[in-house]
Amino acid sequence: MNNNISGILNEALNKLQAAQLADIENIKVEYLGKKGKITEILKSLSSLSIEEKKEVGSQVNLAKTQLNEAMEAKKKEITNKLLEEKMKNEKIDISTAFSFNFPKGHYHIISKAIEEMSDIFVSLGFNVTGGREIETDWYNFEALNIPKDHPARDTQDTFYLENSENLLRTQTSAAQIHIMEESKPPIKVIVPGRVYRNEATDASHSAIFHQIEGLVVGEDITFAQLKGTLQLFINRLFNQELPIRFRPSHFQFTEPSAEVDMKCVFCGGKGCRVCKGSGWIEVLGCGMVHPNVFRAVKYDPEKYTGYAFGLGVERFAMLKYGIDDMRVLYENDLRVLRQF
Ligand code: DAH
Repeated sequence: MNNNISGILNEALNKLQAAQLADIENIKVEYLGKKGKITEILKSLSSLSIEEKKEVGSQVNLAKTQLNEAMEAKKKEITNKLLEEKMKNEKIDISTAFSFNFPKGHYHIISKAIEEMSDIFVSLGFNVTGGREIETDWYNFEALNIPKDHPARDTQDTFYLENSENLLRTQTSAAQIHIMEESKPPIKVIVPGRVYRNEATDASHSAIFHQIEGLVVGEDITFAQLKGTLQLFINRLFNQELPIRFRPSHFQFTEPSAEVDMKCVFCGGKGCRVCKGSGWIEVLGCGMVHPNVFRAVKYDPEKYTGYAFGLGVERFAMLKYGIDDMRVLYENDLRVLRQF
């Protein structure tokens, strides 16, 4: 490149190096403008030969292109830097910002157990419904084939309300009657809920506790279906195959009646403190719905059969989570609750 041209170009590039954004436009005018230093060179061409004109002309164009490119690059460099600075200055440090650390709550272990158990029954086709905690004698006893003065009443120490017409239900079985009064078979429901008994609290008793009642009614409901359902329920709840056995028992509202034991989850049947050495743990009561119960709700006992079961939520929760004193479920000690 012609010394003159490259000299001017270098001068321009040097100026550009130290330039701010506003200077760039001035440099452009100074070198490439109408009267700019590089433009001026073209004007001096008239005295040159055609060969020389071509040569110098292309060198001037090259210098123009280089300067233009350098100016664009510089502009970009400056604007990027400005943007970076702006972002740095305007940054908000949220990581050290002051905030409240609200503790998160969660369901109580009993609610969790009810939900978990209900989910298993739902997966087996059961509906979930609610019952009433204040009942009349009819629903809690009479319609369940427990007549007045029947000794079976003594086993459930009842809280009567002031007028003694009403009582706090002693068993979720009372809901069976409401359900059958209000609907026609086929019925397949569970009723989780609170029940009340006038008894002292100890490691395995409480005046208020929870049950899940099950009721299935239809035209061909069998004891085998009851067994299959309960076996599946126990296996799923404890995530393992846990054998169960049915012991003949007595409940006024079922015939035949049974109490169900499951193999001890803690010792696998060898015998331990929890199962009191027997290898089995009693977990629920069940049976085929008594014809008198069907009569009480005006169902034809010749046409329909059904099974029912009632299980204690606390009992299952204690077995599942390895809790050996029922009272911890009600004391609301956060050190306990936080573990579940
Ligand atoms: N209601 C009984 C109780 O509280 C439990 C029970 C036993 C419920 C047998 C049932 C059943 O539905 O069939 O002790």
